[in-house]
Amino acid sequence: MPGRLQNKVALVTGAGCIGPGWGNGRATAVLFAREGAKVFAVDKNGESMKETLDRVAEFGGTIKTHECDVTQSASVKAMIDACLEAFGRIDVMVNNVGGSAAGGGGYQSHSVAVRSMRAPRWVFSAWWSSHKSSRLAAEVGPPWA
Ligand SMILES: NC(=O)c1ccc[n+]([C@@H]2O[C@H](COP(=O)([O-])OP(=O)(O)OC[C@H]3O[C@@H](n4cnc5c(N)ncnc54)[C@H](O)[C@@H]3O)[C@@H](O)[C@H]2O)c1
Repeated sequence: MPGRLQNKVALVTGAGCIGPGWGNGRATAVLFAREGAKVFAVDKNGESMKETLDRVAEFGGTIKTHECDVTQSASVKAMIDACLEAFGRIDVMVNNVGGSAAGGGGYQSHSVAVRSMRAPRWVFSAWWSSHKSSRLAAEVGPPWA
C-alpha cells in the first residue's frame, strides 16, 4: 500500500550500512521513501549512504543525505537545522543508530554488563535527537496541522 507517508518528512539516522546490501537504517530510509516520505538520511559515513541514494533513485523517491555523528550534540543540532532547511519540518524521527555487545546478560563479562547499564552513548544520542526534535515539534506544530 504505497503512499502511507506521502508528504511526511522522515529523518533516519544510520541510513547507510557497514557493507553492501541491507541494514536497518538503509531499509527504513528506502521503504519510507517508497511510501512517499521525503527522507533526510543521516550517517557519520557519507560514503555508506551512496547505495541508499541509488536504491531510492531507482523509483524516483525524495532523499537528501547529511553527514553527522549523532553522539555529538553540536552535530545533532546542525543535523536538525539542516533537515529543517531542506524540508521545513520533521514528522518522523528514526533513531536507528545504536550499539550492542555480544552475549546475553548471563554471558557478558562484568565490565561489558556494567557499561551497558550506564546509559551508553547511543541511548544518549537517541534521547538527544528526540529531545531536540520534540522541542522542534512544539515549535512547528503537529504533522497533521
Ligand atoms: N543487524 C542486526 O541483526 C541488528 C539486530 C538488532 C538490533 N540492531 C540494531 O539496529 C541498528 C542498526 O544496525 P544495522 O546492523 O542494521 O546497521 P549497520 O551497522 O549496517 O549500519 C549502521 C550505520 O550507522 C552508522 N553509524 C554508526 N554510528 C554512527 C553515529 N555515531 N552517527 C551516525 N551514524 C552512525 C554507520 O556508519 C552505519 O552506516 C543498531 O542500533 C543495531 O544495534 C541490529
